[in-house]
Amino acid sequence: MYKPINSTGYISYQLSGRQDSYLTLKDAMAEGKSVFRPSETIAITGQNSVRLFKNSLDEIIAVKAPVNSIKRALFRNNKKFFNECDDEEKSVANELRLLKQAYPEEKPCYLISGLCAVKPAEWTYRIVMPYIYGCTLDQCVTDMDTSSSFLMLILAVAIELDRIHEQDVIHGDVYFNNALAKRNETSGEYAVHFIDFGSAYSKDATTATITDCKKSAIRWAPERRSPDIDELKPDISQDVYSFGFMISKLFELLPESVDTEPLIFLLLLADIAQATDPDKRPDLSKFIIQIEDGLSPAGEKYQAPRMKR
Ligand SMILES: Nc1ncnc2c1ncn2[C@@H]1O[C@H](COP(=O)(O)OP(=O)(O)OP(=O)(O)O)[C@@H](O)[C@H]1O
Ligand SMILES: [Mg+2]
Repeated sequence: MYKPINSTGYISYQLSGRQDSYLTLKDAMAEGKSVFRPSETIAITGQNSVRLFKNSLDEIIAVKAPVNSIKRALFRNNKKFFNECDDEEKSVANELRLLKQAYPEEKPCYLISGLCAVKPAEWTYRIVMPYIYGCTLDQCVTDMDTSSSFLMLILAVAIELDRIHEQDVIHGDVYFNNALAKRNETSGEYAVHFIDFGSAYSKDATTATITDCKKSAIRWAPERRSPDIDELKPDISQDVYSFGFMISKLFELLPESVDTEPLIFLLLLADIAQATDPDKRPDLSKFIIQIEDGLSPAGEKYQAPRMKR
């Protein structure tokens, strides 16, 4: 049933999302499946590669693969490295589970597995997901021309993060390269989609999942980075901390021509969000209300649309 992944060959993914297998081009054609061919690489990060695949109708899917799976095959005699990669299946499956929990309506969204081409005795895993059109938040900010665009963008991020929290998912790595945004040129409003659920956890997660010190970053809430933590409960205030940190960083990227005076209240809120004491961090609803107030013309209440997914 499973064939080695062939980096030069064609891979077919089933859009139904039901079957966790992939096929070579020949098999796929024989079975009348829609064939997605490798198109371009969007990113190779420290841990993963994300590639685009296109079918004959120009439909696009994104496929995320741990680069470790290739390295693991190459370095299988290096025990230290091998052990580090041991949990590949668990971590990829976990990422997919949380992505689906955050975006239950989205198709395709599934896991494929197969034998690795480099060392066919090894199993390797991929997440197949929709390609999201949009720019990372830092890209959006660098060519902004007004402070209200900045408010609109942060507002859309807050609303989307709040919606994800309502699905009982804590993103765990809120940062400007882990969300994509698209601007509506008529209304100026943004549609935001979070990606990268590789550090995400659900509200019933264990301490170990929340505080993965191998991945820990300065944008994470300090309680998640503390090495001697005994027990830490999942809490949305952990995302709020990173959200505040991200706002401060995005603010620094704004072009000098943008009037920053109307953004001061937001910066103050972002500062409080980075309080060491989680209880002092504001709820996202506070961000939403204050930004909507900031965007309201005199005597009129502005309310951003809530996207249904
Ligand atoms: N579904 C998608 N649609 C469009 N672009 C995507 C998608 N998933 C990922 N990307 C692009 O690939 C980049 C890397 O993806 P992702 O953040 O999931 O990988 P990562 O290895 O977990 O990243 P890092 O560890 O650097 O945060 C993203 O910043 C984004 O530009
Ligand atoms: Mg990322």
